[in-house]
Amino acid sequence: MKERLDKYISSQTALSRKEAQKAIRDKRVTVNGEVIRAVDLKTDPDSDTVTLDGQALSFKKHVYYMLNKPAGVVSATEDRAEKTVLDILPEPLRRKGIFPAGRLDKDTTGLLILTDDGDYAHRMLSPKKHVDKRYIATLDRTPDDSICERFHEGITLGDGTACKSGQAEILVNSRVLVTISEGKYHQVKRMFAALGYRVTALERVQIGSLRLDPALSPGEVREMTDDEKDSVFVDPI
Ligand code: URA
Repeated sequence: MKERLDKYISSQTALSRKEAQKAIRDKRVTVNGEVIRAVDLKTDPDSDTVTLDGQALSFKKHVYYMLNKPAGVVSATEDRAEKTVLDILPEPLRRKGIFPAGRLDKDTTGLLILTDDGDYAHRMLSPKKHVDKRYIATLDRTPDDSICERFHEGITLGDGTACKSGQAEILVNSRVLVTISEGKYHQVKRMFAALGYRVTALERVQIGSLRLDPALSPGEVREMTDDEKDSVFVDPI
């Protein structure tokens, strides 16, 4: 379907409609190789090649990014005092309506999905879907083998909240691989607190069958493939 050029650019980038119009007037936009000055040119996203600052825009209804969240940024779209996960997104990936699908604490690192697809995020976060999240928790001391059984039985938090059955696998160096299907506030830290341990570092490594790409350093982000996007809803092996 044909669309006005300014509207199309604005829908595919972080630019507002006004900013898109200015970019067109400033000759930063080409359509099929020609610099265009008419903001209302009818453009067909399927057949026309539109570039902004030399970069081709490919039409996408929604975007899905995998971020290796660093410590020290908050999982929010804006914050008056703190740096957010959107603040660290490289300019070309910014787009209106992007938000983090779920939250990690400010000091938690690892896999965070950013998208502008509200239905997808809702499905992923819905308690009914039971999407497993996997974390590596580093504890203040070597854990006792009994924690595995306690996770399996279901841990009751300090305030009496009962957690569903989860899994804990003890790794080396006081680290534990934890799998839970819920997303209660500070859940992993509170589960360990209920067992008498303090979590000194927490990294999310997997959601469903989607693993954090080991090639992404903390703070790095990349677009997910369609398969990766769907793998969130596949149970981990
Ligand atoms: N559990 C926590 O305690 N913190 C997180 O960031 C995620 C899960």
